[in-house]
Amino acid sequence: MPDLKPVAVITGASAGIGAALANVFADNGHALVLVARRAPQLKVLADAIEERGHARPHVIVLDLGQPDAAARIEDELRETGLEAKFLVNNAGFGLMGPAASLDRGQQLAMIDLNVRVLTELSLRFAESLVRQQGGILNVASVASFMPGPGMAVYHATKAYVLSFSEALHRELGGQGVRVTALCPGPVETEFMARAGIPENYFPRFLSRSAERVALEGYDGLMRGRRVVIPGSKNKGAAWLARLLPRRVVLWMLRRVSGA
Ligand SMILES: NC(=O)c1ccc[n+]([C@@H]2O[C@H](COP(=O)([O-])OP(=O)(O)OC[C@H]3O[C@@H](n4cnc5c(N)ncnc54)[C@H](OP(=O)(O)O)[C@@H]3O)[C@@H](O)[C@H]2O)c1
Repeated sequence: MPDLKPVAVITGASAGIGAALANVFADNGHALVLVARRAPQLKVLADAIEERGHARPHVIVLDLGQPDAAARIEDELRETGLEAKFLVNNAGFGLMGPAASLDRGQQLAMIDLNVRVLTELSLRFAESLVRQQGGILNVASVASFMPGPGMAVYHATKAYVLSFSEALHRELGGQGVRVTALCPGPVETEFMARAGIPENYFPRFLSRSAERVALEGYDGLMRGRRVVIPGSKNKGAAWLARLLPRRVVLWMLRRVSGA
């Protein structure tokens, strides 16, 4: 096999946490492949990274909801002489409202992006990650730790991401591949408006910037941590959700969401 250049593939890099992660990976010397649907935002980010003196990221403008999206990323890497050393599964979205009333198609598309695409990319690149002794950073959420009346499907997708990532951490760890689930609390990004979450819905003390979340996620991945929960209050919430009886957690979340 010819010498392939190792890269970090980051999905959902056009905004929010994904863009912040791209900056952190670039500043730590990684060559990047940035994936999202919006070309202008990806170009602005690639320009900024290049202007800071780093290698220009390779941009793939792609709707990950397309059934062949993961195969297309793999093909493009091969054709351009690149190989995934790190995979950051960050693209995702949520929707707020009672599951039975929200649009069914959009909720299924959410499962497709948050769960199926993340799984397919992780499995598809496992071999190259082993070869490169790299890692996977899967963006889960504090929502991973609790069922969420008012965002039922979103919480369920993120519970999957946490469970899958923790198991992969164990399975691939012995082969030199780090796998980390990054579980942020609320982060002020486009995510909120897209999900239909009202402004100031989450208490400010739980919020963290995308940049801080990205730094902690990168650091946790490089240290080989299984789970990273940015912020002590969010760690506390995740811990409580594991300790309290499920019916109490459900009651609390239902009170907050009103669902
Ligand atoms: N913000 C929070 O409070 C929060 C908290 C915990 C976890 N998270 C998780 O963090 C991750 C990033 O969220 P964020 O807050 O940074 O949200 P964001 O600002 O809305 O960014 C989402 C990213 O995903 C990309 N994306 C969405 N659908 C896509 C598709 N079909 N194909 C390709 N790319 C797609 C978007 O790019 P395009 O629109 O250009 O395609 C964008 O780059 C998500 O997995 C989210 O669940 C967020």
